[in-house]
Amino acid sequence: MSKVEEVIELAKRRGFFWQAFSIYGGQSGFLNYAPLGVLLKDSVIEAWKRNLLRHGAIFLDSPNVTPEDVFRASGHLERFSDIAARCRKCGTKFKAESLLTETGSIPKTSDEAKELLLANRVKCPVCGSVQWESYDFNVMFRIQTSDGPNLYLRPETAQGIFTDFRLLLNFNRGKLPMITAQLGKGFRNEISPRQGLIRMREFNMGEVEAFLDREALNFPNLPSDSVVKLVPNTLAETRLKLSEAVANSMITQDHAFFLDLAVDVLKDVGLSGDSIRLRQHRKEELSHYARDCWDAEADIDGEWVEVIGIADRGNYDLSRHQQFSGENLEVTEGERSFVPSVIEPAFGIDRICFALLVNAIRKRENGYKYLSLHPDIAPYHCAFLPLQNRDGLDKLAEDVFFQIRKRDPRVTFDQSGSIGKRYARQDEIGTPYCITFDYQSLEDRTVTIRERDTTSQKRINIDRILDLPAEEGRNPFTRLYS
Ligand code: GLY
Repeated sequence: MSKVEEVIELAKRRGFFWQAFSIYGGQSGFLNYAPLGVLLKDSVIEAWKRNLLRHGAIFLDSPNVTPEDVFRASGHLERFSDIAARCRKCGTKFKAESLLTETGSIPKTSDEAKELLLANRVKCPVCGSVQWESYDFNVMFRIQTSDGPNLYLRPETAQGIFTDFRLLLNFNRGKLPMITAQLGKGFRNEISPRQGLIRMREFNMGEVEAFLDREALNFPNLPSDSVVKLVPNTLAETRLKLSEAVANSMITQDHAFFLDLAVDVLKDVGLSGDSIRLRQHRKEELSHYARDCWDAEADIDGEWVEVIGIADRGNYDLSRHQQFSGENLEVTEGERSFVPSVIEPAFGIDRICFALLVNAIRKRENGYKYLSLHPDIAPYHCAFLPLQNRDGLDKLAEDVFFQIRKRDPRVTFDQSGSIGKRYARQDEIGTPYCITFDYQSLEDRTVTIRERDTTSQKRINIDRILDLPAEEGRNPFTRLYS
């Protein structure tokens, strides 16, 4: 089994995610986050929000359902399409670009896609045929209404922010730069949804729209100035500090700020620097609204997958909304009036969760699996385990557990099965610490704390646990083990 398959199997068995509507056979492209997956996703969202708040972001929550006028202005109605390829033998549909990955070509029209597929004798992954037809396919879901204008499920949350730009700027007392963000669902009628959480038809996005004055230096200080693996679209892959990439004119300072922020969030949730790279889009890959775009990609079992797209949208969106709505969306500073530009880091929350799981799965020598998730991000921070369900051990463990849970609710209590089975269960769901109450605990108020990755244990006093401070988004039990 590949790591991706192992994660999908474990996710279903242990309750991270599974197919939605499975009693009716499931629906391709729709998954449910299961109980532990909801907690993991919340951890990722908390880290996203915490990092943005640190840079003064303000937040919006706008509807999923959006009128057609918005997408006419944004260009999505006309241009948000994929090129589909349909096998003429078995009828299976694919995204043409995915079939052509190995050729390195990105078709711009459906005719070009068909020519490339035929010229490269690309085989249908299902039946092996090399006969193709190709067509354009708008990936927005249109909603049936009884009357009124056409409505769509939004393919990105960004337009809700752009259409509220004036209100948000007033809220921000007219000040630029202004970092706005929205967490929410996006919907795309993908031609070929992918395994796991990578390409779904309904997905979770954490989009950030930073409005700025292109003629000013808006973000002079990089958050961390990380050294990163960069894959520019014209030069060879390199490792540089982002400030060096700015100095080498590979990227603007404002764009670098958000690339650095994106890398910070990925590291904060536990991805290592080696499993992250920043890749610049080739011209033909750019979305219709983007002047430039870099993807933060995560290594998912040997494949680099976009988890955050950091686009420079220029002033495309606000100019178009100004033109189509008739509202003045300019900002006046001194003598100058201008339409602000936008840098947009769009976080794919589901893809980040999937990357974390695939990078965390490990096997011990005895074949048992464990998830080496970051202690702050794991669904539970700690499990409380009484060795026996009698002789007062269960009562003592419960007392401590209930006291701790008031301060850190990310704890779980497990009293079913042998202690070995319980450790194995917690390891598989990534719980970084287990606290076990045994007979000695009744005598001297000490317990063992076991660390997931090393399985090493030590004895500590219960009062040290009861004295732990609560820190939002952090795992307090880490203090007991360091
Ligand atoms: N707003 C970024 C995206 O649609 O991917």
